Amino acid sequence: MSNRLPVDHEVAPDGTESWRTSPGGLVTALEPLMRESEGAWVGWPGVADRDFEPFSNDGISIVPVRLSTQDVEFYYEGFSNDTLWPLYHDVISPPSFHREWWDSYVTVNKRFAAAAAAVAAPGATVWVQDYQLQLVPRMLRDARPDLVIGFFNHIPFPPYGIYSQLPWRKQILDGLLGADLIGFQRVADAGNFSRAVRRLFGYPTRGTAIDVPDTAQHSRRVIARHFPISIDSASFEELAKRPDIQERSRQIREELGNPKTIMLGVDRLDYTKGIGHRIKAYGELLAEGSLSAEDVTLVQVASPSRERVAAYMDLRDEIELAVGRLNGDHSTIGHPAISYHHHGYPREEMVALYLSADVMLVTALRDGMNLVAKEYVAVRFDNDGVLVLSEFAGASDELKQAVLINPHDIEDVKSAILQAVNMPKRERSRRMRALRRKVFDNDVAAWSASFLETLTGGAKVAAGVPEN
Ligand code: G6P
Repeated sequence: MSNRLPVDHEVAPDGTESWRTSPGGLVTALEPLMRESEGAWVGWPGVADRDFEPFSNDGISIVPVRLSTQDVEFYYEGFSNDTLWPLYHDVISPPSFHREWWDSYVTVNKRFAAAAAAVAAPGATVWVQDYQLQLVPRMLRDARPDLVIGFFNHIPFPPYGIYSQLPWRKQILDGLLGADLIGFQRVADAGNFSRAVRRLFGYPTRGTAIDVPDTAQHSRRVIARHFPISIDSASFEELAKRPDIQERSRQIREELGNPKTIMLGVDRLDYTKGIGHRIKAYGELLAEGSLSAEDVTLVQVASPSRERVAAYMDLRDEIELAVGRLNGDHSTIGHPAISYHHHGYPREEMVALYLSADVMLVTALRDGMNLVAKEYVAVRFDNDGVLVLSEFAGASDELKQAVLINPHDIEDVKSAILQAVNMPKRERSRRMRALRRKVFDNDVAAWSASFLETLTGGAKVAAGVPEN
């Protein structure tokens, strides 16, 4: 189950309707598994006020959940993306607390839980994804105690001092504790969660185990631990080896005026990504003369996101003002300082961009994982390219051979950029080889297998069935 289905409903200008499979890593990892086990995917098709019958897509049943225009406004844009999202990302933008949004979050979570309860076979395993559905585990357990329930939080779980601002902090924890296994990206996220459970409920926790009282005499054991998500590394590398994509990568460099160094940023246009910090550091380096737009270009892909939420509208204005100023000050004819693109691109084009990027900039102020960092590494089969990576992205727990930065420290970002631009070939290659080992050892298939084995193995132990 996830807020968004792995297929998007699309209406062409001529009114023709179709379903398009989203190319996300989660879908790729789970598809084969779900086909084998006659799985169903429960989620929202991305359009409001439409009822769709369940259907089958490549051997997986798709179970669409309806959201009204008001649900989209209150549950999705409101509580999910203007309350939980900023709260869980260190309150970089102030979260809004509205009781009507909370009521809608409860109602929609109930609808998702009911849809899953209706299609799950006896004893089935249900895997709930992400912060939009945190109440579902408890609701499902109440409706269907026979189910094995896992939950994975793709975004950070904040420290108690921040989490405790949430007026519904107890309800959310209780919702999550309905699961048998709760997965997080980082060790620190799982720790923050367990601490919140101790502080708010006083339940005993030992290591990754939490004992949740069930009845007066009994308690259920819930496991909360980290499972860092990854990408389908091999498929990215395969694309990178395609001659047409390599040709496209050469063409990109040409079209940018053949700069010595191409730097790249790829993000959803989100205030958590530190795009402004990156532009500020780059602008100072150009102004000081440490870099010149004749030699260096920054390609910034900022894909449109949550465009009806005010904080995202403000961010777009802020970033586009900064891009315009920087280009006005530093571009020359034929040499743009920033080549800025407010679009999403197909995966092939992204791989061509990664291949042409000498330096990849990931400057997130807070990020659950950041899969862009892993995609860049997976593509670089030439063992070249430098990854500059924020310590505040979950990926930095694994990708320690990147040039790690504190994005709040503009001097640190500037010196990391210079270090990356001037790094000798041998060092680039040494670091990239080490990074690639990480990204290929833990790909998304390994991630889902590890989560599901822990979930189903753990459930057997709890039920007294011997593991084999
Ligand atoms: C993050 C979240 C996902 C979400 C995605 C895109 O990666 O963890 O749950 O689907 O952003 O955001 P959107 O609001 O468009 O679904």
